[in-house]
Amino acid sequence: MIHPDIESVLLSEEEVQSRIRELGAEISRDYEGRSVLLVAVLRGAALFIADLARDITVPVELDFMAVSSYGSSTKSSGVVRILKDLDEQIEDRDVLVVEDILDTGLTLKYLLKNLASRKPASLEVVTLLSKEGKRRVPITCKYVGFDVPDEFVVGYGLDFAEKYRNLPYIGVLKPSAYQD
Ligand code: PRP
Repeated sequence: MIHPDIESVLLSEEEVQSRIRELGAEISRDYEGRSVLLVAVLRGAALFIADLARDITVPVELDFMAVSSYGSSTKSSGVVRILKDLDEQIEDRDVLVVEDILDTGLTLKYLLKNLASRKPASLEVVTLLSKEGKRRVPITCKYVGFDVPDEFVVGYGLDFAEKYRNLPYIGVLKPSAYQD
């Protein structure tokens, strides 16, 4: 049953879960013999980190960051304010940042610079979705779930006005749901 505000399903629940299992297997191979600290950027990545962690077979620890932009211009300025920092020290740790969507790349560019200054042993990124066409700064993202078109996507953590995060699939929002 599709939510009435959803125009079309871009990625079904099965497609999302199956790709996450593949990513989990790939990450498990790459980090064999090590443990990995997964760092999710709240709030959208909360669902992804929960599923991904269960598909990784090497020892995993979880930590979370919350960031916010300085006003509505943040997306263009790339200035990010840390609202909640990591609880863990990451020096000499293998850190994997978990994102739900990579769009302009501005948020991640700032975060990666910040995290790199703490001298982790390694620092990589896994994102479930990537809008390659929207990138404004180059980002090295080792693990990408799906490259998606520039549509208004919601579900599986992604919101519009805090709604739709709990949909188990990724859907395209009907314009009537976000236009007056
Ligand atoms: C989304 C996403 C990334 C960021 C990506 O978060 O989780 O953090 O936007 O955009 P960028 O590549 O253009 O910087 P959002 O600000 O929507 O917050 P949320 O996760 O709480 O929904």
